[in-house]
Amino acid sequence: MAKMIGLNSGTSLDGIDAVLVEIEIGADGQPTPPRFLDGLSIQWPEEVEKVMLDVFANKVDMEGLGRLNYVAGAVFANAARTLMDKLNLSPSEVLGIGVDGQTIYQEQPDHARIGRLSAHEKSDLVSRWFDGPYPICYQLGESNVIAAHTNISTVTHFRQADHAFGGNGAPMMQYLDWVMFKEHAPALTLNIGGIANIQYVEYDRSKMIAFDTGPGNVLLDHACRELFGVGYDKDGELSASGTVHEEMLAELMQHPFFCRKLPRSAWRNDFSSTYGDSILKKYSHVAKADIMSTFCVFTAEAIAKSLQDNVPDLDRMSEIVASGGGVFNPTLMAAIADRLPGKLKLVTSDKYGIPPQFKEAVKFAALGFAALNSIANNIPAASHADHYAVMGKIAIAPRHAKASGRLPNDENNW
Ligand SMILES: Nc1ncnc2c1ncn2[C@@H]1O[C@H](COP(=O)(O)OP(=O)(O)O)[C@@H](O)[C@H]1O
Ligand SMILES: [Mg+2]
Repeated sequence: MAKMIGLNSGTSLDGIDAVLVEIEIGADGQPTPPRFLDGLSIQWPEEVEKVMLDVFANKVDMEGLGRLNYVAGAVFANAARTLMDKLNLSPSEVLGIGVDGQTIYQEQPDHARIGRLSAHEKSDLVSRWFDGPYPICYQLGESNVIAAHTNISTVTHFRQADHAFGGNGAPMMQYLDWVMFKEHAPALTLNIGGIANIQYVEYDRSKMIAFDTGPGNVLLDHACRELFGVGYDKDGELSASGTVHEEMLAELMQHPFFCRKLPRSAWRNDFSSTYGDSILKKYSHVAKADIMSTFCVFTAEAIAKSLQDNVPDLDRMSEIVASGGGVFNPTLMAAIADRLPGKLKLVTSDKYGIPPQFKEAVKFAALGFAALNSIANNIPAASHADHYAVMGKIAIAPRHAKASGRLPNDENNW
């Protein structure tokens, strides 16, 4: 059994989740379902969070961006060290850390254009990204800072290997879900972070589907900040206190995101603060509580519609396993449960031993474990990549450095 640390900070920027899991290679050569041992969350230092929000708004220059990359690495290292201190773990007890970094930009490939490329056009690698349909993304959190200051090999930047083969890269939950649920397939999962996504799991990976459904908490959080001066709708109380404004809901459902074919990834840009502000401005005459109810129901309708539009034979499944911070909003969970098609029941990942707020961090622990063992961890059927690949870049822990000498001032505080 190996121990892995997983770290995650999602689009909500509500903090960094750190988990410790146990995992090994099973008889089929694939990782076993990770066993969750413990987890904690730390906040981004306030001054760092401010710069990160400026980066999201495209207001930071190259120097600032470069500095923030190292700073974010230091914050991730601190999150891992806090967990290690809590559990009294030494670096040699942990095989690796999996952490994507903080995504600051993400787009999806233009699959229709990729499909139309001739063999000759496809052979022009530079054009694929220079002015072509292949996607890019950007994550902050310097892996060498994390590896150096935890003394644990650190795997970061997972989606780029999938992007290199024209895949969506995100969402990435499908790999953990395949590892966890392939023996009980078919299975359905829903993660409600800033953005929400659904995974449809089959034992045969080549039949899997994964896609973003649209907003998770992002619009609710934005409205909370703008209308009530608080970070989020604690326990869904604000959303529960209003009624849905039908005209606003109808307009939200017209968002062009819902016309995008699978695979589809959303990002803050699709449901950005600019988009949120434009809706808040247009419906400024509507009571604040009604705005919250409408965003809440919109999030639930987007999930239900995406499920019905994109997952075949829903009758074969009896439950959908939810995770992410949105699980703690009972108003949102009730709105989703009300709209689920057929006999689908909404359960949470607790049922399978993973606290919902930590499932994404567990995902990075599992992805990192696969990468350290050179095991394919993308799901081409879901991302539409051309190949299986090992996602993740490895920064090796200094304790593994061979043929190294010792310096008098070695930082020996790991
Ligand atoms: N008690 C709660 N009541 C309502 N919403 C909650 C609660 N706890 C967490 N959330 C929501 O979950 C979000 C964080 O979810 P998370 O899964 O961490 O998203 P991300 O992956 O984007 O960081 C918060 O911004 C908030 O909207
Ligand atoms: Mg979070």
